[in-house]
Amino acid sequence: MPAGAAVAAATEVVAVAIEPSDEFDQVGWMEEKELTPVEKGYLFVLIWMDKRFRIVDYLEQLETMYYRINLQMPKSHTEQYNLDNKFWYWYPLYALGSFSAIAYLVAALSGALLGFYYSPSTAAGACNVSNASVAYCTIAGIMTDVNFGFMLRSIHFWSAQVMTAAVFLHMLRVYFTGAYKEPRELNWLIGVVLISLTMGFGYTGYLLPWDQLSFWAGQIGLEMALSIPLAGEWVAQLMFGGFRLTQSTLQRMYILHVFLLPFIVTALIAIHIAIVWVQGIAEPH
Ligand code: HEM
Repeated sequence: MPAGAAVAAATEVVAVAIEPSDEFDQVGWMEEKELTPVEKGYLFVLIWMDKRFRIVDYLEQLETMYYRINLQMPKSHTEQYNLDNKFWYWYPLYALGSFSAIAYLVAALSGALLGFYYSPSTAAGACNVSNASVAYCTIAGIMTDVNFGFMLRSIHFWSAQVMTAAVFLHMLRVYFTGAYKEPRELNWLIGVVLISLTMGFGYTGYLLPWDQLSFWAGQIGLEMALSIPLAGEWVAQLMFGGFRLTQSTLQRMYILHVFLLPFIVTALIAIHIAIVWVQGIAEPH
């Protein structure tokens, strides 16, 4: 498309988005039809929403944009060589992204349920283990007292392991099929952020039981943070709440694990998959 025509097309989109497209007499139209009460109710809600938020206008714009973008995409391997009926040996690996997404979903759901029983406190706990914290005791309770608690915790643990492995293998598949190349660079970069945040999930979750394993993993993390030139002390304070492992450390790990990371990762996965939807899947050349 010549540059002038592209600008004209873009202006047209903006212009249509600003002005309502038509003034259709929806109520009159509804009266003409023989509708059941359910149909009437449904249409009434839709018309009510459309009058206020002009959803139809915006959906039409989205559809137009979708086709414009799709028309500009380079042809896929299948389209180019007319391979519609052929099995391509990479195809089974294409499911790894979905596998990561499903594992994430399972981890999120099981994690939300674990949240009903876990408490992120380093204060002395009341279970029969010497020096155990409340955090440790609530997890011991999940394993021994809560019905199917051990299963819930195992589902959370294993879905997290599977997600980490699947994300890593998915990244390898994208690399070896060259799917990171133009026009998919942005999705590769979002992927790099996603794999880092997946590891962030792993590390913050590892510290939550506040047992020996968690404590010493925390100590290693804290010392790694402190060893960063110039910004070390600042990073240690930001991530670990000080220069020693305390209640502030556990509090931070908890809020990162159950609040910040889930919001950011869910949003990024949605954008990541939306981009795949718009661009189509790349195929090996
Ligand atoms: C939470 C982690 C992730 C999830 C849930 C996820 C999900 C997906 C899904 C469902 C697809 C569709 C194709 C397929 O299944 O292979 C996809 C494609 C893609 N992913 Fe990911 N992904 C994640 C992490 C990553 C990482 C770590 C990278 C690379 C650094 C990456 C880069 C890409 C690229 C470039 C595509 C497009 C590939 C193509 O068009 O063939 N993703 N992702």
